[in-house]
Amino acid sequence: MKKKLSRFDLQKMKDDGQRAVWITAYDYVTAQLAEESGMDMLLVGDSLGMAVYGYSGTVPVTMDQCIYHTEAVRRAAPNTFVIGDMPFGSYQTGVSKACKNAVRFHKEAGVDCVKLEGGVRVASVIRAISDGGMLVMGHVGLTPQSAGAQGGFRAQGRTAESAQAIIDDARAVYESGAFSLLVEGVPPEVTRLICDDLPIPVYGIGAGDCDGQVMICSDILGLFQAFTPKFVKRYGDVAGEYRKVFTAYIDDVRNGDFPGEEHVYRMIEGETAKLPVK
Ligand code: KIV
Repeated sequence: MKKKLSRFDLQKMKDDGQRAVWITAYDYVTAQLAEESGMDMLLVGDSLGMAVYGYSGTVPVTMDQCIYHTEAVRRAAPNTFVIGDMPFGSYQTGVSKACKNAVRFHKEAGVDCVKLEGGVRVASVIRAISDGGMLVMGHVGLTPQSAGAQGGFRAQGRTAESAQAIIDDARAVYESGAFSLLVEGVPPEVTRLICDDLPIPVYGIGAGDCDGQVMICSDILGLFQAFTPKFVKRYGDVAGEYRKVFTAYIDDVRNGDFPGEEHVYRMIEGETAKLPVK
């Protein structure tokens, strides 16, 4: 049976130069298949706002929605390190509310850590949750919950000045007690500086090579149709498979080819004769 990784295993992987691989998951089946496939971690990301609920961003996602999906993922993948993503509004309005929501994630959904966006500006929140005995993963660079303030979903840190701000954010996350960090949408040379500077694992999405990668599951599956960011590699065409299956089923039913003899339950022998005669 697969052994669930601990923060110490993840740290050792960084120290040994072994990359960790993870994806987002929002439902039972995906999480089960990911665990079976040997995924190191699963993130129940607030990207579920787009991937599951059809919102245009992550801002409307609520704590209850995150808990609900995380519970399903936890049940499906008991032996995988699960990250609960703190949605917008769950940690921006005070340290005490942030701690309460981090506790909810642990008590109601059984997460192994929580992730939250921001650097210097959320240092006190990371400190408080860590001091409460919970693991925190930071998230710097492109932070979708503040896409408005960042001028949209766009790469960050492309000038030396803005790169320095991200490096400072990464350091603040580490110094506040986070056990790991996710860097999103920044040039690989900036990620490399952060990864070499910080002793904790530094993971990336759209940020080049570092201590591991995360991808949105519906992106790598080729399931999400609205747009494909430059940093996504599609490993399948699951949307195409859905279409094939759905149209074949529609054709079969309309043509009377489904259900066939093999798909029905016949009556017990002798019972048919007792049915009312028409
Ligand atoms: O919500 C999410 O899926 C994320 C990704 C950027 C990994 O945070």
